[in-house]
Amino acid sequence: MDTSLGSTSSGNGKVPVPIRIGPMQVYPPILQAPMAGYTNFAYRQVVREFGGAGLQATEMVNARGFVWLDEHDCEHPDRLWGIKEEPRPLAVQIWDNDPETMAKVGRRLVDEYQVSVVDINFGCPVKQVTEKAHSGSYLLRDPDRMYAIISRLVEVCAPTPVTAKMRLGCTRDTMNYIQVAQTVEKAGAAALTVHGRTAEDFFKGSADWNRIAEIKQHLDHMPIIGNGDMQTPEQVRHAYQHYNVDGVMIARAALGKPWLFAQSAAALEGRPIPPDPSIEEQRQIMLHHYELVVERFGIHRGTMLMRKFACCYAQNKPGARHFRAHISRVETQSEFYEVVEKFFPTELEADQSSTALADERACESCG
Ligand SMILES: Cc1cc2nc3c(=O)[nH]c(=O)nc-3n(C[C@H](O)[C@H](O)[C@H](O)COP(=O)(O)O)c2cc1C
Repeated sequence: MDTSLGSTSSGNGKVPVPIRIGPMQVYPPILQAPMAGYTNFAYRQVVREFGGAGLQATEMVNARGFVWLDEHDCEHPDRLWGIKEEPRPLAVQIWDNDPETMAKVGRRLVDEYQVSVVDINFGCPVKQVTEKAHSGSYLLRDPDRMYAIISRLVEVCAPTPVTAKMRLGCTRDTMNYIQVAQTVEKAGAAALTVHGRTAEDFFKGSADWNRIAEIKQHLDHMPIIGNGDMQTPEQVRHAYQHYNVDGVMIARAALGKPWLFAQSAAALEGRPIPPDPSIEEQRQIMLHHYELVVERFGIHRGTMLMRKFACCYAQNKPGARHFRAHISRVETQSEFYEVVEKFFPTELEADQSSTALADERACESCG
């Protein structure tokens, strides 16, 4: 495997270079993944404050729903809130299986919202999207339709780049990622992100980076972004260096660690990796995140929404389980602050029980 393609090599390994996505240069070559229910305006803002993500993405937006709202003179989808004023670059991800519906929405996103990238979801494994709407990862079984959707979007969005995000296939027995990646490139997409699992895998097992690494040698020029299971800056660096990708995308691990992108950028550039913020600083970051969520969604909805983010911030810390049990029941702002005050892990607990972390790991709310 030639791992040097698309990169510059030095004595220290592969030197990070910008990913060329249409007319854009994305640098650092580290991307914040789209995550429904999570990568809203507030989360993106917190990530942006730390830096390190060369491109950020919204949650996936249902194109058919957007068109329906538009035709019924309703407000645009909630998930597009704030993006007109938001700093760029920003990718908005959309999903559906109908080329014309997708084209209609793509055009709106380009004209009205002036987004940097229109990204298409070909990876979602959730039944509501696959079985009910024949969209997301369901489309991996139908490369012709994928071609029709992408090429139509490319046509109407130009010169704004159109990208795609996919999994390795629908099932372990039908992994057609090479053929699909070639189709995506032929249809004119400016980049492709590959999550190294199949739809059938959902989140089971490990992401298969060897398969991700195979893809690039079968393509002409389209950049490949690898995704799956990146938890530490060192893993991001390793993936970038060894798996023949132009960029690395991080999703779940950064939900409670929005500083992971900045740490990963340092790792890629061979700079000292900034340490994690202290636990007290992390508490303050979480409270800042909460304020942004409330500003956007109002106190009640914001508090409900923040329960799961708060769990992510506490994850892997001593006392996280206890904190989770309390925070997942708060309903008001004062309850939220009270529980954080009383139960958010402290430096003292961390010092006392660094060995008792194992059972605190899973945070169900983080998917
Ligand atoms: C709660 C949740 C929501 C997600 N929503 C989306 C989405 O809207 N669009 C998408 O392309 N992928 C979505 N994903 C998949 C992630 O973008 C990513 O591909 C996957 O989590 C693997 O990366 P990771 O191991 O770094 O988490 C979602 C994942 C999770 C856990």
